[in-house]
Parts: sequence; C-alpha cells; structure tokens
Amino acid sequence: MKLVIENITKQIKGKVIISPFSTELTEGVYALLGPNGAGKTTLMRMLASISKPSSGRILLDGKDISLLDENYRDQLGYLPQDFGVYQTFNAERFLLYFASLKGLSPVDAKKRVAEVLDLVNLTNERKKKLGTYSGGMKRRLGIAQALLNDPKILIVDEPTAGLDPQERIRFRNLLSDISANRIVLLSTHIVSDIEYIAKEILLLENGQLLQRSTLDNLLTQVEDNVWTAIVTQEELAEVQRSFKLGNIQRQADGISIRIVSPEKPLPQAKNVQATLEDVYLFFFNESEAQSHD
Ligand SMILES: Nc1ncnc2c1ncn2[C@@H]1O[C@H](COP(=O)(O)OP(=O)(O)O)[C@@H](O)[C@H]1O
Ligand SMILES: [Mg+2]
Repeated sequence: MKLVIENITKQIKGKVIISPFSTELTEGVYALLGPNGAGKTTLMRMLASISKPSSGRILLDGKDISLLDENYRDQLGYLPQDFGVYQTFNAERFLLYFASLKGLSPVDAKKRVAEVLDLVNLTNERKKKLGTYSGGMKRRLGIAQALLNDPKILIVDEPTAGLDPQERIRFRNLLSDISANRIVLLSTHIVSDIEYIAKEILLLENGQLLQRSTLDNLLTQVEDNVWTAIVTQEELAEVQRSFKLGNIQRQADGISIRIVSPEKPLPQAKNVQATLEDVYLFFFNESEAQSHD
C-alpha cells in the first residue's frame, strides 16, 4: 500500500497555508511534527479528504483519492483535533451510533464495537457516561471510533493533547500495536510522543515540509550542535539574546543551560548528545519545544 502526495498546496483566502511538496507513505507510523500554526491540521484534513488541495493530488495505490471518494473513505480512519463526544452517551452506544453512520449492519456493528472497545482497553468502562471519562479515555474512544471500519490508513490529529504521562504512554503503545498493516499518520507538537514509535518524522513549519527523516538521521544532523554550560545571571541574559536555549536549571554552582548552536557558544560550553527536543529547537524558529503540554 502506498499513499502518494504529489505537489499538493493549500491556499485559503489567498493565503498560502501549505507550500508545494511531494512524498510517499507506506505501512508504519509517521509523525508530523511542527509548532502550532505550521499547517498540520490543514494537511491532515486534505489527507482525510475533508478538504481538497488547491493544487496537486493525493493518490492511494496510484488512484486519485478525490476520484476514489467513498472507496477511499471506507479505508480511512480519522481522529480530528477537536473530536467531541456526546456527554450523555455511554461508550458502547456512542460507537454503535458511529458504526451505523459508517454503514455497518447492526450485527456487524455489535461485533466490531466489542472488538474496538477491547483494542483500546475500554471494555470495562463501556457502560459509563462519556461525561465522566478522563481526557485519555476520550482520546482512546476517539481512536476506537476511527478504527471501526478497520481502516488501512489512520490519521490522528494531536491525539495526545491534554493527556497525562501515563495515558500518553498507553496511547503510544496502542498506536504502535495497530500500525502493523496500516499507514498511521500522527501530528503533534510534543516531541516525546514520537520518540519510540515513529518510523519517520515529517518536519513542518510555516506550511513547508522542511524534511522527512528517521529520528536517528535527525539526531545525527544535530549532534555537533548541542552544548551545556554553567553560566552566571549576566551571561544567561547575553546567551538568551544570541542563541536558542533548551532547559535552564538553577543549581548551587550557577545556572546550568542547554544551548543549540552550530558554533561553540561560550568558552566553558561542552558538547553533549542530542535529543529530539534539541532537534525541535534546531529546526524550528519558535523556541517552544515541549516535552509535554
Ligand atoms: N479556514 C481557515 N481560514 C484561514 N486561515 C486558516 C484556516 N485554517 C487554517 N488557517 C491558518 O493556517 C495556518 C495553519 O493552521 P493549522 O493547519 O491549523 O496548523 P496546525 O494544525 O499545525 O496548528 C494557521 O496560520 C491558521 O491560522
Ligand atoms: Mg492542528
């Protein structure tokens, strides 16, 4: 299976939201990483055939998805960024309702709803009102909804927003479990979401695909550019003006800082091993790398 993005662009009211780019996705988990406003949701909506590219095409196994239409949507699962649930429904009823919208017969729907509830580990909570669900449970329900039709392509937009660290880990494992025979595309601005599961990372900024690489490759590109140093308050003010800073930690012997810079930023600076958070700082201009929300 192959999803080909061929020179797609998106303009809304004359403003360029996605600049032209092309790439190909096959089975596995891909992460779309970029700051807020980068265009992640806009791109995913086009891949989910909710909106059409202004130019270019998206092809599934050689066929234009806008021509495949329903046949494409039958193979697609989509979890929108702003996925809402009906507070007074319970999970089972909610999923049965979605299953009927997706055209499953009542008998198939019942069977499939039980399967997806099991997959996302909500079987025991299936009779509880959704109003009582935690953020993580709602997200898992969202994934269950997206999996009802056993999609070959799964698109999930910022699925871990608002989850606590434990829910986040469970969610990552779930995505990894279900990715075996599917194309999974996950967007996030949180680097720790993708460290373990993404086979490749697409870096998006200002509607431009900066690059597509494995995590190892990104780390290699950044490896000689990451430094730590102990500085005084005056030095800190100075380096803050001139360099991209990672963590700043006040210690007994001064302020320990992490700096991303091609050149040695300070005489006392020492090279250290890069993390994905450094990758984020290195490639994106807004210094808003976040390990969690
Ligand atoms: N319907 C729209 N009308 C005008 N501007 C939009 C619309 N949708 C998105 N944008 C703009 O496109 C840019 C990318 O938005 P979005 O795709 O939501 O980014 P992300 O999901 O990465 O945060 C933002 O600057 C946003 O304001
Ligand atoms: Mg978004």
